[in-house]
Amino acid sequence: MSLVHEIDYGTPRPRTDKTVTLTIDGMQVTVPEGTSVMRAAMEMGTQIPKLCATDMLDAFGSCRLCLVEIEGRAGTPASCTTPVAPGMVVHTQTNRLKQIRKGVMELYISDHPLDCLTCSANGDCELQDMAGAVGLRDVRYGYDGDKHPNPGKDESNPYFTYDPSKCIVCSRCVRACEEVQGTFALTIAGRGFDSVVSPGMQESFLSSECVSCGACVQACPTATLNEKSVINIGTPEHSVVTTCAYCGVGCSFKAEMRGDELVRMVPYKDGKANRGHSCVKGRFAWGYANHKERILKPMIRAKITEPWREVTWEEAINHVASEFKRIQKQYGKGAIGGITSSRCTNEETFLVQKLIRAGFGNNNVDTCARVCHSPTGYGLSQTFGTSAGTQDFDSVEHADVVMIIGANPTDGHPVFGSRLKKRLRQGAKLIVVDPRRTDIVRSPHVEAAYHLPLLPGTNVAVLTALAHVVVTEGLVDEQFVRERCDWDAFQHWAEFVALPKNSPEEVAKVSGVPAQTIREAARLYATGGNAAIYYGLGVTEHSQGSTTVMAIANLAMATGNIGRPGVGVNPLRGQNNVQGSCDMGSFPHELSGYRHISTDSVRETFEALWGVPLDKDPGLRIPNMLDAAVDGTFKGLYIQGEDILQSDPDTKHVAAGLAAMECVVVQDLFLNETADYAHVFLPGSTFLEKDGTFTNAERRIQLVRKVMAPKNGYADWEITMLLAKAMGYPMHYDHPSQIMDEIARLTPTFAGVSFEKLEKLGSVQWPCNEKAPEGTPVMHIGAFVRGKGRFMVTEYVATDEKTGPRFPLLLTTGRILSQYNVGAQTRRTDNVVWHEEDRLEIHPHDAEQRGVRDGDWVKLSSRSGETTLRALVTDRVAPGVVYTTFHHPETQANVITTDFSDWATNCPEYKVTAVQISPSNGPTEWQEKYSEFSQQSRRIARLEAAE
Ligand code: SF4
Ligand code: SF4
Ligand code: SF4
Ligand code: FES
Repeated sequence: MSLVHEIDYGTPRPRTDKTVTLTIDGMQVTVPEGTSVMRAAMEMGTQIPKLCATDMLDAFGSCRLCLVEIEGRAGTPASCTTPVAPGMVVHTQTNRLKQIRKGVMELYISDHPLDCLTCSANGDCELQDMAGAVGLRDVRYGYDGDKHPNPGKDESNPYFTYDPSKCIVCSRCVRACEEVQGTFALTIAGRGFDSVVSPGMQESFLSSECVSCGACVQACPTATLNEKSVINIGTPEHSVVTTCAYCGVGCSFKAEMRGDELVRMVPYKDGKANRGHSCVKGRFAWGYANHKERILKPMIRAKITEPWREVTWEEAINHVASEFKRIQKQYGKGAIGGITSSRCTNEETFLVQKLIRAGFGNNNVDTCARVCHSPTGYGLSQTFGTSAGTQDFDSVEHADVVMIIGANPTDGHPVFGSRLKKRLRQGAKLIVVDPRRTDIVRSPHVEAAYHLPLLPGTNVAVLTALAHVVVTEGLVDEQFVRERCDWDAFQHWAEFVALPKNSPEEVAKVSGVPAQTIREAARLYATGGNAAIYYGLGVTEHSQGSTTVMAIANLAMATGNIGRPGVGVNPLRGQNNVQGSCDMGSFPHELSGYRHISTDSVRETFEALWGVPLDKDPGLRIPNMLDAAVDGTFKGLYIQGEDILQSDPDTKHVAAGLAAMECVVVQDLFLNETADYAHVFLPGSTFLEKDGTFTNAERRIQLVRKVMAPKNGYADWEITMLLAKAMGYPMHYDHPSQIMDEIARLTPTFAGVSFEKLEKLGSVQWPCNEKAPEGTPVMHIGAFVRGKGRFMVTEYVATDEKTGPRFPLLLTTGRILSQYNVGAQTRRTDNVVWHEEDRLEIHPHDAEQRGVRDGDWVKLSSRSGETTLRALVTDRVAPGVVYTTFHHPETQANVITTDFSDWATNCPEYKVTAVQISPSNGPTEWQEKYSEFSQQSRRIARLEAAE
């Protein structure tokens, strides 16, 4: 293995099919129109010296090192800023050019400290490389760099340093922050010799607007911006391309290593989801893999009040199998079940559901998608015929109007957020439907045309009102609807949405969004060109989550915004593999590829390959398993890579369900909150320690490659195999590629997928089969998967969770950029410097009424329970609405959420809880008791492990 080196072509590739032929150094080359001379030379293998250019950024033309001679043109133009022209004749290496370049490099080196041997970028420095490339052998002006401004190192960011003494003022960092990330945190302050890169208003990186995405570090050609891990460990010597294990964007990275030590994660330019960019989590927050709290040995205990006991893998696995068999004998086959993980690979998820269906002999399998995107699966399959987003991320580059509903892409899906902001800076219009003024509503050089700050729980009303405007103002794309959709269903729907009760004027009364804003937003969406909808959990986690998804699909069909680049309906999936875990048959009623378990022909293909009969009745969903546990009929649960105690609603009910079981098995990296109720703990492996695939929010299947050996001895798929064997249903796979081969055999939408193909193409988007051997970037082109698109009537039904005198405010929840879900990983990294605790956002008016000041402890109470946290007084939320994140277990945000759920899928209504806020002195008794219990449990584990 060696380092994966990507070619830097100096300037981006223009997107056009037109080509131009020119001659460079006597050789003819044909390139797309608009290509720079620098890039054209690079495409034929000639590297023109450069410093300020890199192909992630637009050409800038400041360093003057890349000069060339062009026949018929005066002077020596910069090749990075000069586009090719037909018949152009270019010389890149004349005596004149050599002299000029040497002179330029002399000036750079005379202003740069010559401490190359002890510099952290030694061997990985473009300045060094260019000195060599131009043949610099002497510097006439000395080597002191004594005029260079040196305000001192900035080490405030936990992951990288800024050493201005090494800066060559190429502006690559400033431009990366603007063009790639879209944060505009950096400027060049001062002039001439005094020029210096400055975060914000000459602040430190940590206190500036910087979101620590690392794009500037990657762009920097010197050691000025450098990863602390490189400074501490040294430069990497080999790398492996793999996929981020945080969010559903699915960024590709080069994991750069020295021996078996990970040095840094560098976004991979060929990654089709991220195109060389990343966020703070994927790039920097991987330290949890080596965290001291990681559990590496299996543990068991007879009761959850007893200390853990470390055991061998053999003892742990045999114990689980004998307990599960005992429970099934005593209470029946259906008394056990399992939960698959949206953080694990497709192959691991597939094996867990196979173990349950074929090994346990029931269909009691569910996944955390139950609590996030199950309404997406239901809503989109009803209307379009398939349970996934319609586009690839590249599609946003063709959008003219983007509507974001209940999603916060700059925090939740940051790399997509950056790509979206870029498109908005190019002129696309933005509509945001969200109770909160998220960053995307207004950020540097981006401003939403319309923000619809609706009351939580009124999504269906607002979306139906948008449709009302489309229908009653004659904005329907009738040709599209007649050709592509079920016309009768459309007419029925159109009559419904046209009813006066669905008019913006009526809906304004329940949603709080002014009627005129709804009208104008609808007109923009329907008439503004290619219009795309992106949505998140603010759509799905409601009692009408599935109805909202269908309302979105209706709107897209009515306006013809389906089936080509730039349009579509796109769920922004939360976890790295939540799409994959759904695809793999993790729901109790569905086998892989979303086929119902009761369909005989489908079930029979599985039975034939797996060699056992399968139960044709759907099994229990997570909430039903917990209810059954409380009722005494469900006794054993295998949970791979989920923390249901923290992530599922109504924490007390989850705790009661878990406590009522006789054998709870948790397989995870850390003793998570759920493990407090476990009898067996099986140590899991990180994404760095295994092979497999993840499927991102664009249905893109990407390889996860093993970077180091599993620290616990086994990858998660191997643990499931051990358990299956002990349960009496042995499985035989030597490598996850064989599991994927089985998935492909059994799942029509995956029929063409193999590790070999993924190695060759980099990634594919399902469906990938005979009809689409290289995958399907955009779905429903020409026809919907279900044939005719089906409009569904979306009657607004207010949630049963109502405000009243006791609970007058509505609570909604969300994520923050630096943390990830329940925080099990990110809380064990330096990301905590940005978000040490969850805070309650409250409008100044509501805060004043209750005597609450910024930073005060407040009690947050609902009909379900109460918790305390500190207040953040802000007008980001409207009066009557409060908001919090849920990344820290101490917050216990789900103690107060209710058990209301989506009518179709049971997805919990996390986004609407009626609450009251009152001043408080600190944490509640439950929080303290809970915190004491879990800390005690962990202390015991640590002591045991130490012994
Ligand atoms: S880390 Fe990202 S956000 Fe921060 S200054 Fe660099 S490019 Fe800008
Ligand atoms: S910090 Fe690096 S990228 Fe930024 S101007 Fe200085 S040398 Fe260039
Ligand atoms: S955007 Fe998502 S997938 Fe990409 S680096 Fe960040 S967390 Fe990872
Ligand atoms: S690389 Fe062209 S001017 Fe700097």
